[in-house]
Amino acid sequence: MILPIHTFGNMVLRKVAEPITNDYAKLNELIENMYETMHNADGVGLAAPQVGLGIRLFVIDLAAFREDKPELADFKVAMINPEMLEMSEDCAQAEEGCLSIPGIHENVERSLSIKIKYMDQNFVEHIDVFEGFKARVIQHEYDHLEGHLFTDKVSPLRRQLLKSKMNNIVKGRASTSYKVKAASK
Ligand code: NI
Repeated sequence: MILPIHTFGNMVLRKVAEPITNDYAKLNELIENMYETMHNADGVGLAAPQVGLGIRLFVIDLAAFREDKPELADFKVAMINPEMLEMSEDCAQAEEGCLSIPGIHENVERSLSIKIKYMDQNFVEHIDVFEGFKARVIQHEYDHLEGHLFTDKVSPLRRQLLKSKMNNIVKGRASTSYKVKAASK
């Protein structure tokens, strides 16, 4: 089932999400719905707050890169209750977007390498190191669970320039190919 994506201005995107337990109702169904919602919107990552749920869960699927970057294409993961253990001081800038902030793409600085602890869909604990683009996507999704958005990380000047576009998103005036829930409409 495709769920409406909550866009910028919805308070759920600004809350610190809560951990879940392995008896969380219909978790597998939720994860499937999140993958379906993300694929339908041509996204590569989606966090639970983006579908209105303040819980510590996100999904990532990089299959869309199968032609350009085949080494990324088999990376598909649901991370539950993730905990960032290490973030490298070495950083790089690259352009990001977010399904909750349609039409905006900005350069964002991210650590090149991270170490993260998380539960998979079966509540098995993992501690893994990720680098490069995978590390970037994980940092973006992890930020959603902390109530942070990628636009928070751009310079004050850039943010000023984005203001009217962001206000349009709040008012539900941004055009998208997928179903959204705007903060006010
Ligand atoms: Ni996002």
